[in-house]
Amino acid sequence: SATRHYKFDIRLRNVTRLCHTKSMVTVNGKFPGPRVVAREGDRIVVKVVNHVPNNVSIHWHGVRQLQSGWADGPSYITQCPIQTGQNYVYNFTIVGQRGTLFWHAHFSWLRATLYGPLILLPRRNESYPFEKPYKEVPIIFGEWWNADPEAVIAQALQTGAGPNVSDAYTFNGLPGPFYNCSNNETDTDTFRLKVKPGKTYLLRLINAALNDELFFSIANHTLVTVEADATYVKPFESDIIVLGPGQTSNVLLKTKAEYPNANFLMLARPYFTGMGTFDNSTVAGFLEYKNKPLAAPKNINIPTLKPFLPAINDTSFVANFSNKFFSLNPAKVPQIVDKSFFFTIGLGTSPCPKNQTCQGPNNSSKFAASMNNISFTLPSIALLEQHFFGQANNGIYTTDFPAMPLMPFNYTGTPPNNTLVGNGTKTVVIPFNTSVQVVLQDTSILGAESHPLHLHGFNFYVVGQGFGNFNPNTDPQIFNLFDPVERNTVGVPSGGWVAIRFLADNPGVWLMHCHFDVHLSWGLRMAWIVEDGKLPNQKLPPPPADLPKC
Ligand code: C2O
Repeated sequence: SATRHYKFDIRLRNVTRLCHTKSMVTVNGKFPGPRVVAREGDRIVVKVVNHVPNNVSIHWHGVRQLQSGWADGPSYITQCPIQTGQNYVYNFTIVGQRGTLFWHAHFSWLRATLYGPLILLPRRNESYPFEKPYKEVPIIFGEWWNADPEAVIAQALQTGAGPNVSDAYTFNGLPGPFYNCSNNETDTDTFRLKVKPGKTYLLRLINAALNDELFFSIANHTLVTVEADATYVKPFESDIIVLGPGQTSNVLLKTKAEYPNANFLMLARPYFTGMGTFDNSTVAGFLEYKNKPLAAPKNINIPTLKPFLPAINDTSFVANFSNKFFSLNPAKVPQIVDKSFFFTIGLGTSPCPKNQTCQGPNNSSKFAASMNNISFTLPSIALLEQHFFGQANNGIYTTDFPAMPLMPFNYTGTPPNNTLVGNGTKTVVIPFNTSVQVVLQDTSILGAESHPLHLHGFNFYVVGQGFGNFNPNTDPQIFNLFDPVERNTVGVPSGGWVAIRFLADNPGVWLMHCHFDVHLSWGLRMAWIVEDGKLPNQKLPPPPADLPKC
C-alpha cells in the first residue's frame, strides 16, 4: 500500500454562479474542491494550511479513523479549529473500506463551499463485485448561496427558524440551465455527462447539500445501485435515487445500445416534509451522447426528455427506496446488544444562553433542535483532548446524556407540550467493544420531519425502521440481523423511527448528528466517548504535535 500526499491551501477565491460573483472560501481555489483518491489500505496525508480569516477544520466523512480519531476533523470535538495562518496535517489509513465518500469542512457552515470527493478504490489485486465500468464519474450534489453562508447561519441562530434557503442546487458546483440569468449565455454553468452508447458508467453520487435530502433521476435510463456509504449492497434497479446529505452511493448507468434521437435531462430536487421555508427548485444537467449536439439552453424543452420525480413530500417513496438496501455479504451485525439507547429527535425552544439575544418572549428562549430534549452546546476546547488527558474535566463536558427520553410521550401523535429542551455538552461513555443499539425516533413536536443522522468513527447496521412510535416489544422481532445495509448516515423517517447497531471498537470521541447543517447548528448532536481497550492496539495514540490549540 502507498502513502498519498495532498496539500489543501484554504484560500479565498472569486466564483461566479447565477450571474453573481462572490469571494468564497475554497481549497486550492477550486469549487467544488479537489478529489482525494486512495486505495484500500493506503495512508492519506493532507496538509491543510489556513490562509483565510475564518477558522476551519476538515472532516473525512465516513472514514472509520480506526485509532486515528485526531484526524476526524469536527471542530471542538476531535480538534480545535485551524486558525488563520496555521496548519494541521491529517494523517490516517483507509482500513477495510472502498467506495465513494467525501470530505468537507466541519466548522460552522463552511462546508457550503468546502467539499470534494473522496474516492476509495479497491486494493490493486481486487476487482469490483459488479461489472467493470467503462468510466467512473463523481457527481456531487451541492447548494449555491448568493449570500455568504456564514451570514445566513449567523442570522438563523439569532432569529430561530430564519432564512436557510439556498439560491440553487448544483451538480459538481454547476446550477444548470434552469437558472440562466442573462441573455448571452455561455452555458458553462451546466453539468454535462458525455457518454458513448453501449457502455457502463459508474456514477459516484455524493449529497453534499447543506440542508436537503434529494431525489435524483436521469430521463429514460435506469440506475443500478451497487454501493452505499462505501459499503457494497445487493444490486437493485431504480429510476429514481434518494440521497440524504452525508450519504453517498455508487450506481451503474448503462447507456443505450444505439445513439438515441434525444437528449436526456438529469434532475435533482429536494424531498422535504418539515415546516418553514425550503428551496423547492430543481437542478438539471445533461446526459449527452457524444454525437448529439445539445440544444441551446433557451430551447432545452424541444428535444430533451425530462425524468419524473416524486412529489416533494413523498415519504412513502423514500421509505420504499430505503427498504431496497441490503448488504451484499452476510453482515457482522452484533447479535447481542450490550447497551440499548432510545433517542427522540425534535425541534423546540431552549433557554437563552447568557449574553446572547434570543427571540422568545422577554429574550427568554431560542429555537433549538435536540435529541432526548438535549440541545448540544459546543465546548470551548476539543472534547477528545479533554478526554485523552483525562484531568478533572473542568466542567467542559458531562457524561450524563440520557439513554432514554426523561419523560416518555406519544412521539408521533398530537404534539405534546414538552417542547422545552435543555442545553449542555452531554456525552455517553461506553467501554471498548460495547455492542450498541440506538433507536432514533422522530417526533412530531413542531411537526414531523425526516433527519439524516450521521455517526462519526463507525459504520452502523440499519436493522429496522418503521412509522409511528417504536414499539420495544414487537418491532425488534422483525429486525434484520442477517444482511442489513451498513452505512454512516441514515434517514430517520418523517414521523417514524430507525434502529441501528454498531460495535464500539474505535476508541475516541465520536460525534453523532443531523446532517442538515441548520439542525446541527441548532444543537441536534451528541457525542459518544469510547474508552480504550486493554490491548495496545485498542488504545487511542497520543495526539500529533501539530494538533491545533483553541
Ligand atoms: Cu459529514 Cu459531522 O459530518
